[in-house]
Amino acid sequence: MTTSARKLFVTTALPYANGNFHIGHIMEYIQADIWVRYQRMQGHAVNFVGADDTHGAPIMIAAEKAGKTPQQFVADIAAGRKQYLDGFHISFDNWHSTDAPENHELARQIYRDLRDRADGGLIEVRTIEQFFDPEKNMFLPDRYIKGECPKCHAKDQYGDNCEVCGTVYAPTDLINPFSALSGAKPELKNSEHFFFKLSDPRCVEFLENWTQDGKLQPEVANKIKEWFTVRTNPDGTTSEGLGDWDISRDAPYFGIEIPDAPGKYFYVWLDAPVGYLASLKNLLEKRGESYDAYMADPAMEQYHFIGKDIVTFHTLFWPAMLHFSGRKTPNNVFVHGFLTVNNGEKMSKSRGTGLDPLKYLSLNMNAEWLRYYLAAKLSARNEDIDFNAEDFMLRVNSDLIGKYVNIASRAAGFLTKRFDGKLTDQFGTTGAALLAEVRGASDAIAQMYETREYSKATREIMLLADKVNAYVDQNKPWDLAKDAANNEALHQVCSVLVNAFATLTRYLAPVLPGLAQAVQGFVGVNMQQWNAAGDVQAIQPYQHLMQRVTPEQLEALFEPPAQAEQAPAATETVAANSHPGGEELAPTITIDDFTKIDLRIALIVNCEPVEGSTKLLRLTLDVGEGRTRNVFSGIASAYKPEDLVGKHTVMVANLAPRKMKFGVSEGMVLAASHGDEKANPGIYVLNPWPGATPGMRVR
Ligand code: MSP
Ligand code: ZN
Repeated sequence: MTTSARKLFVTTALPYANGNFHIGHIMEYIQADIWVRYQRMQGHAVNFVGADDTHGAPIMIAAEKAGKTPQQFVADIAAGRKQYLDGFHISFDNWHSTDAPENHELARQIYRDLRDRADGGLIEVRTIEQFFDPEKNMFLPDRYIKGECPKCHAKDQYGDNCEVCGTVYAPTDLINPFSALSGAKPELKNSEHFFFKLSDPRCVEFLENWTQDGKLQPEVANKIKEWFTVRTNPDGTTSEGLGDWDISRDAPYFGIEIPDAPGKYFYVWLDAPVGYLASLKNLLEKRGESYDAYMADPAMEQYHFIGKDIVTFHTLFWPAMLHFSGRKTPNNVFVHGFLTVNNGEKMSKSRGTGLDPLKYLSLNMNAEWLRYYLAAKLSARNEDIDFNAEDFMLRVNSDLIGKYVNIASRAAGFLTKRFDGKLTDQFGTTGAALLAEVRGASDAIAQMYETREYSKATREIMLLADKVNAYVDQNKPWDLAKDAANNEALHQVCSVLVNAFATLTRYLAPVLPGLAQAVQGFVGVNMQQWNAAGDVQAIQPYQHLMQRVTPEQLEALFEPPAQAEQAPAATETVAANSHPGGEELAPTITIDDFTKIDLRIALIVNCEPVEGSTKLLRLTLDVGEGRTRNVFSGIASAYKPEDLVGKHTVMVANLAPRKMKFGVSEGMVLAASHGDEKANPGIYVLNPWPGATPGMRVR
């Protein structure tokens, strides 16, 4: 392997700060983290950074709905990141934000450098016609214009294409267009937009070379090739070659203001990748190191791990921005496919899948099972992979635990009981040959990690584990242990096994960092250096290293948490008069008892599904306190979030806050239901008569 230390700058894509991580994000982080940990084990100096992608119209609108400033909204999202990253052992050196000052400064500087090039700037201003919402006073992105499809006349279609007949069109083609934000009829208005002239021959030449010089994955490079020749425009026409890129948006926009252009903001995708640099700069400056010097070092290598949906941004726009602003371009962009769950079940960006990463952790499922399982499936190719519950259990229990972890448990007991934990360096002929084979695989496995062929690496490691297990079966330590005359042979066999186990552990350490750490304590040899040499001298008493996955855990993981899911059973109804609504009246209370309960009118400013729960909705309530409250309510079976947003209701405002699995609930919303929910399903949220305003007390 290479001996001189490399300087690596590694990132994952920056997730939109409009929701929690879903399992697809976690997959990307695990893929990158395995690579980074492998590189660190090789002694290379890695800076591995991420950040939240905070800007753009959707986040601005979501924040407004939640009754928060965009800054507060993205700060709240950022506060939830750590539990995921720590939980899955993702070793980022820094997590930052694209709204941080470093990013504002860097994005503006890159723009100026593009604009002010001595050989002719690459920014052009053009007037375009766009829909404008006269009520909201803003230009509308295509997603926020709706209307009737010009082709099939389906109502309520988005501005770019019809979900019913699939026709692609321009928002101006819609019949009776309306703003999805206000419902107002949009007006066509002129606006000056800033364009990055990607069609400039300098850009085309540079990008053709950059994308086709062999660094990219072949399937990715081939796809990109098409963009240089034919391009299908949103209106269905085709054009030759690269089009210019519209990089500006009009106020109001949550983003970075364009230099010398008041009221104009960078389109979110211009400043998003700059966030990679901003996070790195923030990290280096916190350490007292120079960002400029780091970037100027020709030995520095820059890599981005991304998903297949954002290739254009990373292989065209981003390298062009960097190159023509006089900066270093990435050494490579590593593209992965999408993760699906249980046979390709569609994964929605907003709702994720049935596999909620936090639920996984809360069920006490081992994060390293998932890391191993994903490693066993991931290759360097841009292809989708599927999380399959049965396959997951099989790989973890049969391979990881059955083949690998068990090697240690089979040998450790004898060493501790019979030999005071000490190992011998006499391995015998077959033992020495086995160890030589296991240790000799080091370079080949290293190369598999280097090239992101993790499935090959885990397969190779499991093949070695098979050989170690065959050696156990041939030498039967449990038989040797029956007769003291075989003591030396027993010592030898167990010593071979523990040494083989130590080497296999080191091979798996990029995937299983926590386990490797535990094994390091057990065998006393370094697990953080790929080529650490030396035999194991002695072991500590064996402690269980890893549990098996149980079918119950998987059932719980995928079980929809609500009984609301079940069809109502046609049981007998309890309808005696003493049981109105299906239950007996509660004991009599005094008026003083009643006034202890502080009921208030609340405005539902936002309502969202709760990832991992089919029963709960997350409500953001305004009770007139100048802040909003977060309340979970078990009403998802009865209401869709959009049914509730903007409505008033009644809440218990002085209930002690309650910590729930999904967050803290700061109160309770009142709703009516029958005492026997099974027989008489239905939940009815209270709604005051018009005129009641947030904060009014109900008495
Ligand atoms: N904010 C942009 C990226 C800006 S990078 C300068 C974005 N965010 S995202 O949250 O939608 O996606 C973040 C990453 O997660 C992307 O690389 C995306 O491909 C990846 N994934 C999203 N869904 C995924 C799966 N189902 N499976 C694997 N990766 C997935 O795009
Ligand atoms: Zn249509």
